[in-house]
Amino acid sequence: MSHDFKGAVALVTGSGRGLGRMIAQGLLESGAHVALHDINENAPAQYGESASLTALADEFSKTGGQSGVKCIAVTGDISREADVVAMVARTEAGLGPISILINCAGGDIGAAGGKPKPNGALDISLEDATAVMNRNFFGTMLMCRAVVPGMAARKKGAVINFGSLNGHVGVSPEVVYGCAKAAIIHYTRCLALEMREHGVRVNAISPGPTTTARFLATRQTDPDKMGGASLDRYATPAEITSTALFLASDQSGFISGQVLRVDGGMTLFAA
Ligand SMILES: NC(=O)c1ccc[n+]([C@@H]2O[C@H](COP(=O)([O-])OP(=O)(O)OC[C@H]3O[C@@H](n4cnc5c(N)ncnc54)[C@H](O)[C@@H]3O)[C@@H](O)[C@H]2O)c1
Repeated sequence: MSHDFKGAVALVTGSGRGLGRMIAQGLLESGAHVALHDINENAPAQYGESASLTALADEFSKTGGQSGVKCIAVTGDISREADVVAMVARTEAGLGPISILINCAGGDIGAAGGKPKPNGALDISLEDATAVMNRNFFGTMLMCRAVVPGMAARKKGAVINFGSLNGHVGVSPEVVYGCAKAAIIHYTRCLALEMREHGVRVNAISPGPTTTARFLATRQTDPDKMGGASLDRYATPAEITSTALFLASDQSGFISGQVLRVDGGMTLFAA
């Protein structure tokens, strides 16, 4: 499916690496100006995907997109309101008003970095639980609060939030991460309702396990799930990217308040 994002301005959080990076590249290739974002300059190097955020923006500016598209780098912690406000201002000063917001930043990362340990419903520390909620739910909410009012005033915009299968079914461990993703999914519905009259669409994607560099580096993977004809496998980053581009594009112009589980049918239930 090809898209035409000419003239669009996109901010993709957490796009120094992983899913966000591929989505940002897809937007650039389809004509959007893109602000790459990460928590700091070094995050893209953590799993070997790029030397730094600025190096990636330079690479994408030269080779990543259609001619004439701009790609800039902005850093900041999405769970800190002052950072969020500053990076949105930097994006709009450099590229113009944001018309596409992709809230990809997040993960099951505790207060000290790395997964919380322990990570169950009763034993996770309050410090880790707070860090996970901040990094996922409150970070997504702060980004929406900084960007969506401008979209509403301009009567134009598409927001895509990132949930997870963990936000739809009971899980253990990663309980608070699942709660944060469930909160993002419900916030998506509520914000979509508030934005109906303003013509701003708000949707979410819940990926199944997906072979990003971080995913591959942080677990023992099952070789039988790496590919093949069966849908009982891991998703590729390209499969999540194509869904994000569809939800950002006019091809989904009457879809709002929805969450797409992109998991090869791993979770099959109503709603
Ligand atoms: N890969 C999967 O299997 C999978 C499955 C379900 C959901 N997801 C979700 O998809 C999104 C992308 O995942 P990924 O696999 O590409 O992971 P990733 O770790 O490669 O990318 C996440 C990005 O978010 C950034 N980030 C984290 N906390 C931040 C903060 N407080 N402020 C600013 N940036 C921050 C990280 O630095 C990183 O660049 C995440 O929200 C994740 O929860 C991924």
